[in-house]
Amino acid sequence: TTSSSSTTQDDDVLSPLREAAHLLRTTSTPVAFPTETVYGLGADATRSDAVRGIYAAKGRPSDNPLIVHISDLSMLRRLLQPIQTQSESESESKAQADSDPIPVIYHPLITRFWPGPLTILLPLPSNPTSSTPPSPSPSSAPVPAPVLAPEVSAGQPTFGARLPASPLARTLISLVGNPLAAPSANASTRPSPTCAQHVADDLAGRIELVLDGGVCDVGVESTVVDGLCDPPVVLRPGGVGVEELRSCPGWEHVRRGYGGGGESEGGGEKGPRAPGMKYKHYSPRARVVLFEVGGGGAAGWLDQETVEGILGAVKTVGVIRTGKWPFAGGLRTARVEQVGPGKVVNGEEDIGFVVRESSLLGTDGNPTGARVLDVDLGGDIKGVAHGLFAALRELDRLGADVILVEGVSDGDDIAAAVMNRLRKAASDIRA
Ligand code: TXA
Ligand code: MG
Repeated sequence: TTSSSSTTQDDDVLSPLREAAHLLRTTSTPVAFPTETVYGLGADATRSDAVRGIYAAKGRPSDNPLIVHISDLSMLRRLLQPIQTQSESESESKAQADSDPIPVIYHPLITRFWPGPLTILLPLPSNPTSSTPPSPSPSSAPVPAPVLAPEVSAGQPTFGARLPASPLARTLISLVGNPLAAPSANASTRPSPTCAQHVADDLAGRIELVLDGGVCDVGVESTVVDGLCDPPVVLRPGGVGVEELRSCPGWEHVRRGYGGGGESEGGGEKGPRAPGMKYKHYSPRARVVLFEVGGGGAAGWLDQETVEGILGAVKTVGVIRTGKWPFAGGLRTARVEQVGPGKVVNGEEDIGFVVRESSLLGTDGNPTGARVLDVDLGGDIKGVAHGLFAALRELDRLGADVILVEGVSDGDDIAAAVMNRLRKAASDIRA
């Protein structure tokens, strides 16, 4: 019958997810899974040994807290209210609605942006005390509630929570039945992975399973916000823009709590609030040189002399353009051709750009012996965000010694996230 065949199909679709959920429930080896932002490296957020497995696989500093991924709001509410008796949860559901454990400041954000690329900081619930054991009476038997492993918050008084838009991610979390702690699934300091192959490139041999959900839609990580202080603060720019946040009640005066780049950024006067922001990040092996286009883009600003000065004896130059760079006039090249079969990432997945190879000519018009690998991410900022990490990784893979990247105008939208990541990846910034 139709219903039995569709059940069989569901089982086929779900079986990798069931296998992943089984691993997550029974072992301490993390599982990589797709989200709409980047791939995450997940572990049961309630088990210390499992969470420690994430830090080990990534080589992540243990003072950098992890984001807690939930499959629905009730999972989050159970986390925030670890002691809840059956009678309370049944007969006082009205009262519970009036005293939602999720702070009111977040309600407009949750309505507008969840599920989606937004992480909110919440107070870490105090652990249930064993000194007042709940009554053994069945009518008030405690509902088993998840309690976060201390390794998740890494010493912070808060934890970050995110409801991902990816149905695959949410299905996985609900099959596990517990929230998943998950950082981006790259090796520490590398660009975040936006397809399964990126995860394999970094973590092969260190993890057992990568769920392949194709190329991530957004391409940069979630926006991390702290609404527990006044005014609220954006700790990390990401998939939700500051201008979008500002249009929500209570968020009109949201501050930027991240710097322009470099090691010291993180929280302005109050010191680093997103501990991860102080670490070196998003770096390919190649040296990255970022060209920031001031005030709407100066045509022809990247001239041959500048490039030759940067390049020195370099053999392979990667170029990432974002729409304004007059490449043909700026660099003298010959024999433009395409590398690879077209859409390049392992020859298969459509990551949204092609890499073109040419040979670099000197001011005298003769070949310098250097080759140029050119990626154009296009002028649309969403397309730039979507392809940025993959372009950095792809140019690395093709042997670039140095990657010249054209900046975008630093707006209050996803461009802020793009420039934040680029400034961290770059060893030099030229204005
Ligand atoms: O889009 C994303 O957010 C991805 C996907 C997998 O969900 N995850 C991700 O996680 O980017 P990760 O660990 O690479 O970055 C988390 C950022 C770090 O900068 C960390 O310091 C900050 O969020 N963070 C997490 N919990 C925090 C807390 N309690 N207080 C302050 N910052 C926190
Ligand atoms: Mg990360």
